[in-house]
Amino acid sequence: MKISNVSVKALKEKYGTPLYIYDVNHLKKNMEGYLKNFKSLEFKTEVLYASKAFSCKEILRIAKNEGMSLDVVSKGELYTALSIDFPKDRIYFHGNNKTVDELSYAIDNNIGMIVVDNLMELYEIEEIAKEKEKKVNFLIRMNVGVEAHTHKFIVTSHVDSKFGVLYDSCDYKEMMEVIKNSSYLNFKGFHSHIGSQIFDLDAFKAALEKLLNIVKDFDFPLVLNLGGGFGVHYTNDDKPIPFDIVSRTLIETAEAALKKNNIKLEKLCIEPGRSIVAEAGYTLYTIGYMKKTPNKQYYFIDGGMTDNIRPALYQAKYDCDIVGKENQEKTEVVTIAGKCCESGDLIIEGAHLPKAEKGDLLITYTTGAYGYSMSSNYNKALTPAVVFVEDGKDYLAIRRQTLDELIEREV
Ligand code: LLP
Repeated sequence: MKISNVSVKALKEKYGTPLYIYDVNHLKKNMEGYLKNFKSLEFKTEVLYASKAFSCKEILRIAKNEGMSLDVVSKGELYTALSIDFPKDRIYFHGNNKTVDELSYAIDNNIGMIVVDNLMELYEIEEIAKEKEKKVNFLIRMNVGVEAHTHKFIVTSHVDSKFGVLYDSCDYKEMMEVIKNSSYLNFKGFHSHIGSQIFDLDAFKAALEKLLNIVKDFDFPLVLNLGGGFGVHYTNDDKPIPFDIVSRTLIETAEAALKKNNIKLEKLCIEPGRSIVAEAGYTLYTIGYMKKTPNKQYYFIDGGMTDNIRPALYQAKYDCDIVGKENQEKTEVVTIAGKCCESGDLIIEGAHLPKAEKGDLLITYTTGAYGYSMSSNYNKALTPAVVFVEDGKDYLAIRRQTLDELIEREV
């Protein structure tokens, strides 16, 4: 098996397992897929990479060079972006409880846009901005009442979300008053994010229409950011919408509404995370022991919930193969279990695989999003290395954690 013309077995020899592998061509293709199609003649557009899906210097360099903008949600993500000189004006800072320290850091660094999540945060920013005598560009995150689930969506109140502001609320009215009376708050527009791993384009259209409705209240062109959440293919049950269709549909929805209502937009943004990195990522493991129980055949791998918490946390499903045996008959129905002291540490249940031997390599697909970024040192597992491959070449993006690093902060 090869990824971008690099032998997976050779990667194991060079870097060991567990190993995260990213196909750079695939990453670039995904970024370009949005950048090329998410364009309008009526207003500016911007595609942000939601770096919570996978943040490290190398992926951010690629995003920067491709012309993506960036969504960060913590001082840590912002620090990582600034460490590679990500253009500050292309950074959006999200989060429902940004600390004074985080907000000050963002404001000191003149980052492009803060996405304000609630009324108290707005007061906090105004205070910090006043003290620093700086004007702060910001969007307000709206709770647009579109609650999207994986396959269906319901337009309901969803009033109790921890994120965002309801349009018909006292908080919203007060925010508008605060903005009117402040010379430090540079209000630019609105944001919404309705959920993740969504396949229903109508849910996004509904959210966009909600935002477009609010635009009518203003006499200057606004920036609207529709968030991310575009679904990807983990298994054959998943039917992602192609980039060009997502992009064109949203652009056309906005253009039609603007025309109908005779209003203008300054800019429309989207911020995909998962759909940029998920399918470009793989995780490689070595199979250790195998065991049969009355009802199950286990293959044990040298990683598990510490490098991929998603099956345990969300019952997420994945596909896998045994490297070099992809074309062999899949005679076994297997539970792939990790090595953590935790019964729920099962990466895949009911995987159809050929017979394996100890030492075989198991590869799981579509692990590029929320794998590394949600990894942990539970059981004092070492965080795996991350390698990028491109046209027959491989290079380390993050080296494997060492035992010394594991305890270096301990007194
Ligand atoms: N924008 C905002 C404001 C978000 O909260 C998120 C994700 C995104 C963009 C990117 O969404 P994406 O395109 O990646 O779906 N850990 C979970 C996913 C949590 C998503 C959180 N917010 C998982 O592994 O499925």
